[in-house]
Amino acid sequence: MPGPLVRVETVRSAQIVTIDRPEALNALNHVVILDLVAALERANRAPGSAIVLTGAGEKAFCAGADIAEMATMDPSAAAEHARLGHGLADAIAASPKVTIAAVNGYALGGGCEMALACDLRVASENAQFGLPEVGLAVIPGFGGTQRLPRIVGEPRAKQMILTGERIKADTALSWGLVNAVVPREKLLEEALRIADAISVHGPRAVALARESITRGMSMTLAEGLAFEQKAFALCFATRDQKEGMKAFLEKRKPSYEGR
Ligand code: CAA
Repeated sequence: MPGPLVRVETVRSAQIVTIDRPEALNALNHVVILDLVAALERANRAPGSAIVLTGAGEKAFCAGADIAEMATMDPSAAAEHARLGHGLADAIAASPKVTIAAVNGYALGGGCEMALACDLRVASENAQFGLPEVGLAVIPGFGGTQRLPRIVGEPRAKQMILTGERIKADTALSWGLVNAVVPREKLLEEALRIADAISVHGPRAVALARESITRGMSMTLAEGLAFEQKAFALCFATRDQKEGMKAFLEKRKPSYEGR
């Protein structure tokens, strides 16, 4: 069961997971990280095809790992903290549902890294992204040095990580770091619109397409292409494939069973 610092609610085709610690800009202390992992486990088991991850309040999605908690850590405590943070990012990336970060303000440090672990990111116009860790004489520790260059490319990742400077939503959009930028009041609606658009499709096909892309990102091109061929063939072992193509030929909407 997630604790009180993280909320999970079902809205349409998605589970909305909200970090609810606005007084500290939703910073990730130990308890919040564990609550988030528990919340994701619960959301994974619930109905719907997507998880929308967001932050409470008007200012921040998440301002990063809790600096007060980290200030006195020795290397072994920091290693444990990184293990926890990576566990959270990996739990997001390994969710069986499509994950969408709805970034409603600052997404900094570990907060940015959580968003990077999601499949898709939508941002409000006031969102800002940054990996400011070097300003604290540390480095991104929840996956940022690896996931950011894979999304925006090495030069832009190095610019963000080595300067520690934040980028605004419009720059994030032009760099491909976010899929869309919308006014704050339309943010959840945009995330839900994407979730709904995914949810009408055959769930096994969506999962296999997602897996092909995600796994392919850490394979050679030849390995990724071989994976895709196998995944394509696997789709034809599903009842949904028969239904999807039959429905097309019969000029009606398909009715999928998820198998
Ligand atoms: N950890 C702990 N508390 C934080 C926090 C964080 N990462 N970010 C903000 N807060 C707290 C502030 O201490 C403040 O608390 P009090 O009211 O008790 O003083 C409250 O949230 C509001 O913050 P500010 O008063 O600072 O708000 P602001 O509008 O003036 O500034 C901000 C907003 C620019 C986001 C600023 O809060 C900030 O720079 N925060 C830190 C961002 C950061 O460096 N994040 C990276 C952390 S390191 C990390 O994440 C490592 C990793 O990779 C795992």
